[in-house]
Amino acid sequence: MPEYRHARLPAGRRYGRMGIMRKLSESPAMNARRTPIIVLASTKGGVGKTTVAFCLATALARRLHHARAGMPEHRVVCIDADPNRTLQQALRIADMPDVRCVESGGETLLPAVRDAQATAGLVIIDLEGSANQAMLYACGKADLVLIPAQPSRFDVVEAVKTAGVVRQAADLVGRDIAHHVLLTRTPVLRQKVAEHSRGQFVKAGLPLLRTELIQRTAFQHMTYTGEPPHAQDPNGGAARNVETLAGEVAGLLGLLLAGAADVQALGPKQARRGRTSAAGEAAA
Ligand SMILES: Nc1ncnc2c1ncn2[C@@H]1O[C@H](COP(=O)(O)OP(=O)(O)O)[C@@H](O)[C@H]1O
Ligand SMILES: [Mg+2]
Repeated sequence: MPEYRHARLPAGRRYGRMGIMRKLSESPAMNARRTPIIVLASTKGGVGKTTVAFCLATALARRLHHARAGMPEHRVVCIDADPNRTLQQALRIADMPDVRCVESGGETLLPAVRDAQATAGLVIIDLEGSANQAMLYACGKADLVLIPAQPSRFDVVEAVKTAGVVRQAADLVGRDIAHHVLLTRTPVLRQKVAEHSRGQFVKAGLPLLRTELIQRTAFQHMTYTGEPPHAQDPNGGAARNVETLAGEVAGLLGLLLAGAADVQALGPKQARRGRTSAAGEAAA
């Protein structure tokens, strides 16, 4: 497995301008100058793929650092490969200039990925809930596959199936493909069933992200208003949850992020050229 898939930058440190450049050049993902691809995959619908795609797209678009090759045309390009086009609808209402969304699927997916990689700093692919050609193609292109799953036995079974598709894609393309289960809609207060469920995923040989997406109304609210959690309440639990998730995901990809506090304090424009901090800093 290429080292950069697990490259982590030191957490909780700030760098000066030259330090940032040095850190960027030390990051293998940055050296590769290849736009990373995150795929949201599950053979099951309703597990939280689109919710996570929306949260990551809107959070990472605010904080991605693009010192490597100048600013890309779009900070994040999302590919909505679900015929229901729910991600595209939500992003249309959100109307964020830094996030572009294109429709695709099946035969058109590979050219769409190529175009997205040429113009974006990060590509996020949202899939429909079934094992199909689009899932195989998307996973074959992925740097990181996230498999959202709720704490239930049904979801363990579907996550195992999805991991099977990722392995098929890895076999096709001749490389390992990093994949993690992301627990979604977990209760705010840790409950026995959630603990038990984590154990079941581990037992099934599925690596879990440390961060879970907690069950919160803010995540449902945003589908109507297009307002990501940070826009609804920057200090709320949902916003903090998303920042932690974004930090963990960026860490897995070796991406540098502007600190969440910096983005709020400086405003997005200044934060783009101003101070940055390591990805792990967000995981507070
Ligand atoms: N963490 C969460 N808290 C509250 N509701 C959630 C959460 N994650 C997902 N949902 C809701 O669950 C439903 C299914 O989520 P969605 O992202 O559309 O799943 P998928 O894309 O896998 O079909 C949606 O109504 C969404 O608002
Ligand atoms: Mg969906």
